[in-house]
Amino acid sequence: MKWWYFLLIALSIGLFPTYLLRPLSSTSEYVAPMNAMDPEELLRQNVYTVLHNLGDSAPPHVVNDSSATYASKQRGRDLFFKGMTIGPDGSTTPVQSKMFKCWACHNTVREDPDLRKHDPEARLQYAKEHGIPLLPATTVYGIVNRQSFYNGDWSKKYGPDIVAKVRHNLRQAIQLCAIGCAQGRPLKDWEIESILMFFWDLQYKMADLDWTADELEFVHRALQRPHDQAMRDSAIHLIKSKYAPFSPATFNPPPADRKAGYGLQGRPEVGRDVYRMSCLHCHKNGRFAYLYLDEDPFSLKLLRKHFPRYSRYSAYQVICWGTEPLPGKRFYMPQYTKQRMSPQQIEDLRAYLEQQAQP
Ligand code: HEC
Ligand code: HEC
Repeated sequence: MKWWYFLLIALSIGLFPTYLLRPLSSTSEYVAPMNAMDPEELLRQNVYTVLHNLGDSAPPHVVNDSSATYASKQRGRDLFFKGMTIGPDGSTTPVQSKMFKCWACHNTVREDPDLRKHDPEARLQYAKEHGIPLLPATTVYGIVNRQSFYNGDWSKKYGPDIVAKVRHNLRQAIQLCAIGCAQGRPLKDWEIESILMFFWDLQYKMADLDWTADELEFVHRALQRPHDQAMRDSAIHLIKSKYAPFSPATFNPPPADRKAGYGLQGRPEVGRDVYRMSCLHCHKNGRFAYLYLDEDPFSLKLLRKHFPRYSRYSAYQVICWGTEPLPGKRFYMPQYTKQRMSPQQIEDLRAYLEQQAQP
């Protein structure tokens, strides 16, 4: 990315003052009192509602509904899916990004069978069963349950200063992504709060976590004992051990020798899934890209030919490093971390293309 681009991001984040970190107010959902309920009912509760009732402190991104007059879940949902919504003056807002919508890169549903892990193999299987795409960025389902953002190697891409600002601040992380990932205008205060409200709607439910009957019973008992904070603390600890507190990110360099690849045996059938669930999400009919790809011989041959090359059409190149936005043309391809696409899956894709597109 160009230097002025970083400057733009830095400015926008810097200009985005900490007044957004207003004192906590609590949404009614968040403080819903939990009277005696049976474990079945407990499973239907939101994770944060239970944590709150156990005495856990609120995360900094609790929605501030008192000050965000114009914010609403629906507006957040609109911004996420359509890139625009109805603004405070009753007219539609300018589109956030001419290129992307948030859903180009983020799912809004669960995508990992085990919420403690970020295993691309298990995710592919799960995504296939549930008919969801495999995207470069993490799902926003359960994003409010995370405690840190842009982890690991993302600081290499955005720089440690920018990342330090967003690491423990979901509002700023949304803003960074709107500008830095979606390549669009900065979001207004009420727009960020709206997206946050939409995200709160997608928080984990107790039923999403993997419970034994005994564990659930333990949490249930802890809730009935307001004065036993030690027991409540272990219940909080137990709940939080059931999901990852953040999404790790490790950049995945292309193989040193692209002809030889990663030295793994590719599985063509899996490669077809990768192609359909990943690449075609953006490239089919040029939905979020200029390059049109499909399952026709032209697309498959193009990718096969360039796979082992040092060219802009090499899948090793674009998967591992992404592409840079050209000035004036802000479409760029985000890179996949190891947690989002494994070297094995990249070789699977290659094997599929080689099988399909014989010269
Ligand atoms: C072009 C792809 C792309 C688009 C479009 C995009 N994002 Fe992201 N987003 C990413 C990537 C890559 C990350 C890095 C961390 C990750 O994988 O979640 C990220 C991270 C985030 C994070 C921090 C998540 C974490 O756990 O670290 C938030 C919040 C976020 N995006 C919100 C949004 C919102 C809101 C929009 C729409 C305005 C949006 N993003 C559009 C690619 C994108
Ligand atoms: C989040 C959306 C998205 C996903 C998913 C995605 N791409 Fe891209 N890709 C883009 C964008 C945007 C560009 C840059 C604009 C363009 O050239 O189309 C791009 C560029 C490319 C290019 C380079 C084109 C050029 O003109 O330089 C190739 C090759 C490519 N992608 C292949 C793939 C493959 C293979 C996959 C699957 C592993 C994939 N893409 C997944 C959005 C995506």
